[in-house]
Amino acid sequence: MKKKLVFATNNAHKLEEIRAILGDKMEILSLADINCHADIPETANTLEGNAHLKSEYVYNHYGLDCFADDTGLEVEALDGAPGVYSARYAGDGHDSQANMQKLLKEMEEKNNRKAQFRTVISLIEKGEEKLFEGIVRGEITREKRGNSGFGYDPVFQPEGFDVTFAEMGSDVKNKISHRARAVKALCDYLSKKS
Ligand code: IMP
Repeated sequence: MKKKLVFATNNAHKLEEIRAILGDKMEILSLADINCHADIPETANTLEGNAHLKSEYVYNHYGLDCFADDTGLEVEALDGAPGVYSARYAGDGHDSQANMQKLLKEMEEKNNRKAQFRTVISLIEKGEEKLFEGIVRGEITREKRGNSGFGYDPVFQPEGFDVTFAEMGSDVKNKISHRARAVKALCDYLSKKS
């Protein structure tokens, strides 16, 4: 029988991505699959802390091995902001346009445009936690460019490219992204074990 592992998300894209890599080795269950409809608190002030809160919640309430992710955009000239607060940088509405507008305003006078997306994954297996990380470095553009993707994609240009995440299309983005790199680190670890 395949080993079961919960991914503490209901994001269909994230599930599809991880099932494509691990699906023949293990059964990846979503929160909906285990009947978890709780709004799991993400109250930590680090990405590691939030990923941990989510994986720990599932492990403690359901006794199932589990992993969870958390991502932030870390801008050097803003001392790492918006970071763990990326989703609600401009307020609680999770409004990407407002978030990007605020970021471009904060960056107006800054010549150092360096930034990185960082994803942290917390895996809890039999009560033991392991962390994985994926980073993609780049810079914040002066204006929004491109229409694909989500979040801060139109204002982030990854190193080695002259297009933003929102201009390059998901095929390319999904190969080089922070999330892809963190997922790969997790999958390498799980594949070696099984
Ligand atoms: P989450 O932890 O994956 O929910 O990401 C938190 C927030 O970071 C999102 O609401 C977005 O604002 C931002 N974010 C995460 N991943 C990306 C990405 O690939 N492109 C653009 N923004 C992202």
